[in-house]
Amino acid sequence: MSEVVRKPTEFRRACEDARAVQRRVGLVPTMGALHEGHFSLIDEARSRADFIALTIFVNPLQFAPGEDLACYPRTFESDLAGCRERGVDLVFAPEPNAMYPPGFQTEVSVKELGKPLEGGFRTSHFDGVTTVVTKLFNLTGPCTAMFGRKDYQQWKILSRMALDLHMPIELVGCPIIREADGLALSSRNRYLSPSERERALGIVSGLRHAYDAWAHGERDPNTLRSLAEEVIRPTFDRLDYVAAADPETLAPSPPSPSRLLIAVAAHLGSTRLIDNLVLGEDPRP
Ligand code: PAF
Repeated sequence: MSEVVRKPTEFRRACEDARAVQRRVGLVPTMGALHEGHFSLIDEARSRADFIALTIFVNPLQFAPGEDLACYPRTFESDLAGCRERGVDLVFAPEPNAMYPPGFQTEVSVKELGKPLEGGFRTSHFDGVTTVVTKLFNLTGPCTAMFGRKDYQQWKILSRMALDLHMPIELVGCPIIREADGLALSSRNRYLSPSERERALGIVSGLRHAYDAWAHGERDPNTLRSLAEEVIRPTFDRLDYVAAADPETLAPSPPSPSRLLIAVAAHLGSTRLIDNLVLGEDPRP
């Protein structure tokens, strides 16, 4: 039975109580609309910790005006049922006012890693993410925290932040979970019409194209990037980027890398999808 708390003080106390009886806290921060990708984070947390805390908070700070904050899917009752089924011990679901009371004015920012890729298109997004996750880490205290690698740049930024600020958090980046046909799971997939859902497969086809070229020995970052882009571009209404980057610094990759991040952001109608693959490390998607 998952306990639900709404107040930050209650959440902090419950995590402290768990640690007081020697339970290792596993944290799964989410914005709700839970799917198998989130459930895989819960399973991973259970393999590393014995008290599982999941947070559900659609964080207004990480949405720019005009993005989908107002219509972001909110499915609290079914999220809770999923948490109960998966053995989550504690659900923290605060109201925006509890996280950002009047007068709130502090921001946490990771400088360089936030600039490329998503940072070029969602300029204030990562400051909103690092600020809310700092608050969640502060409330949780020492723990192991799970993040999905579908948000690859977010995972790298949060890992840097935890290191830079001596946070007592072990951060785990968990593999992307895909549908049987390869589409990466996302809470935003539910916005897609049946025909858009079909076209969305263009991303994974593009990533596979790059993967196959890499498997045949191609190592030029720009060639690999272009191979992915030539498959992805025609199926999408608009492409924000198909990028080839160093998987650690996220800067443009040097020639002949031993690992290469291919990252994509593309639009179908009003839905924006992201996906990525680390060549030289990830399996064929
Ligand atoms: O990845 C997400 O769902 C969100 O960005 C996070 C980490 C829960 C912060 O709001």
